[in-house]
Amino acid sequence: MKSYRTMCKKTWAVILAIACHLPATWATNANEIEIIPKPVHVEQTSGNFRLSPKSTIGYDAALQGQAEYLQQVLGQSTGWDLKLKKDARKATILLTLNPEKVDKPEGYRLDVTPKGISLTGRDAGGIFYGIQTLLQLFPPQVYSDKRQHGVEWIAPAVTIYDAPNRPWRGMMLDVARYFYDKEFVKKYIDMMAMYKLNKLQFHLIDDSGWRLEIKKYPRLTEVGAWAGPDHNRLGGFYTQEDIKELIAYGQVRNVEIIPEIEFPAHILSAVVAYPWLSCTGLQHEVPTQHFISRDLLCVGKESSLQFLRDVLDETVRLFPSSYINIGGDEAVYTRWEECPDCQKVMKREGLKKASELQGYLTNVVAEMMKEKNRTVVGWEEIFLRGDVKTPVVGLIWHNVRDTLLATQRGHKAILTPATHMYFDFPESRTPGEVKAATWMPPISLEKCYSMEINDYSPESTVLGVQGCFWSDQFIHGTVLQEIDYLNENRSENYAEYFTFPRLLALSEVAWCRQSDRNYSDFRCRLSHHFNRLDFKNCHYRVPEPIIEQMNPTATGAIEFTLSPAVADADIRYTTDGSYPTVHSPLYTTPVTVNDKSDFRAITVVNPRHYSLPIYFAPDYSGYKQYGEYTAEWKPLNVQPYLTPWRFECTGKISGNGTYTVSFIYTKGETPFRLGTLKLYKRDELLAEVPQSVLINANSPIATYRFTVDSFEAGTPFFIEVEACGEKGNDTSGLVFINKVTQ
Ligand code: ACM
Ligand code: ZN
Repeated sequence: MKSYRTMCKKTWAVILAIACHLPATWATNANEIEIIPKPVHVEQTSGNFRLSPKSTIGYDAALQGQAEYLQQVLGQSTGWDLKLKKDARKATILLTLNPEKVDKPEGYRLDVTPKGISLTGRDAGGIFYGIQTLLQLFPPQVYSDKRQHGVEWIAPAVTIYDAPNRPWRGMMLDVARYFYDKEFVKKYIDMMAMYKLNKLQFHLIDDSGWRLEIKKYPRLTEVGAWAGPDHNRLGGFYTQEDIKELIAYGQVRNVEIIPEIEFPAHILSAVVAYPWLSCTGLQHEVPTQHFISRDLLCVGKESSLQFLRDVLDETVRLFPSSYINIGGDEAVYTRWEECPDCQKVMKREGLKKASELQGYLTNVVAEMMKEKNRTVVGWEEIFLRGDVKTPVVGLIWHNVRDTLLATQRGHKAILTPATHMYFDFPESRTPGEVKAATWMPPISLEKCYSMEINDYSPESTVLGVQGCFWSDQFIHGTVLQEIDYLNENRSENYAEYFTFPRLLALSEVAWCRQSDRNYSDFRCRLSHHFNRLDFKNCHYRVPEPIIEQMNPTATGAIEFTLSPAVADADIRYTTDGSYPTVHSPLYTTPVTVNDKSDFRAITVVNPRHYSLPIYFAPDYSGYKQYGEYTAEWKPLNVQPYLTPWRFECTGKISGNGTYTVSFIYTKGETPFRLGTLKLYKRDELLAEVPQSVLINANSPIATYRFTVDSFEAGTPFFIEVEACGEKGNDTSGLVFINKVTQ
């Protein structure tokens, strides 16, 4: 792979240098300074440091874990057994703690000179981050877990001072919808650590799985961790020993693991194991498909509160984190409204609405946790429902302005807006894009990077930023589509594909001050990180080539100037609107086309690994009144007699309410016939609208109307309509869906 890429390294170095406003000589230097997240202060000096088999690592006694980590990383890629020197004053690489020299938590100062390396930190976290920066100065092969031959292990001489702007730089991993084994979780922690993220929200519990061993309630994992029939059951869980191992792994890497014990909703897996936990006491099964249960933990029964106490007790004993996450999202309160026990509590506490019971429960648990010196974190609902007096930390996932409410009510906030930080959304609408969550628009790398942190609350209220990776898209390993490249260990590979490279954008959003962020500068540095991810064996979505310029020419054509989004990768292109392949013409100089939609170009990392094409979505603004573009028909898919035509409309059905579906005839000689239309929520028929209508150039629009009253986020919706060409197939048209009432 490497040799394929290095073929055109020189050409791209020059193009990148121009694009990144750097001197070409700088861009051709073997080890450049392309650190992510961008350090606060970097001063390049002259010469290089060269690692040798004789190099030693000296360390303060308190930094043994960090020294061993560095020894191990350098050892596996270089093949050298570098000596460690405890309490040393002299060593080739010296790690020391010095709070006077470095004043910010997790901060460090790194001096690389031709003679040696000095790394000073205020704390072990700062030292770990100095090591990460140092690794980014070495050639990318340093990330390999196999010995690399023929590499010059040099790093440019430099002085770096660096510290994070905020204390919370998080990622959430949903291990409940899909069980990732311990080794994958370690890899995820490792990848977070490489980019200086320090909090892992471990989403251990959801309707579809309970993943944490609780000794007092063994059925939680004997029963609640498994879905499907016995002979073919899916799932798994972490033993308490596994958890201890993960915590220790995280500690060396400055990643704090925060357990998320979800309640009162998203807890069906526990209810399956112990039906008496819910208001109704009914027996259920662990779902095998995406499902948000309406069953809630009963607040009115002493037995379910005791369960909560016991589970949280064991959790607190296991996890040293000063935070305990209690979930709290998406409760629908009908069960509490109907439950006599819950109603009694409402009366006793003088509450008017069942939703206020959630605030009551949050107070009870937050007090319980305070006694154990732990702070409660949870989704924003934990402080938005009812009157919560004990200070908590809310994860703001809907509206970042709610940080203001957090401040006013004495709480703190972490920003994790679904619009920018949910990595289960695709990056684009380009045909061929990975199928993923649809209830929000795609989140491109640039959109993720552009997230603004807080202009609403004082800095002290917003602890930081977090990305979320939900696994509903491949619940229990179901894959919604095939991507050859990801076919082995597919769920794990998809998880990485969704997470990277957006995690690198998150890293910079979380680490840097907003005023220090610059997307084009980030993109230039990023282009050199894909190779590092390759050596880490980490999958990622290959970005499309970057359009540097798109200039009209004197003849009315358009000239495209591109640069590679992945350093040293090829760009291949077409000028007739067709999909480029790895054999299409190689881009070397600007390309001129008559119409921009005729131009397509892909990034080719290697012959098996390439991007989607640059794509200009058709302009449907003239159809705005009909709602969102959903589907289209063309002569190729038009049938000769009335046949059910099924297309997906997930995301266009965005909540309960009344919708119109408009079929609009756009061209052709043949009229298009439509019959009965059906709306499905997965396989469940929700609406049926009989109609028989013919549309053509003179009468081009057919409209259907239906109402949805059992919407579920994350569940796929489909339309099936009878359709055919009337004596022929020369007909094309568009389908739009509009939500007309709430
Ligand atoms: C969430 O996305 N339900 C927090
Ligand atoms: Zn109840």
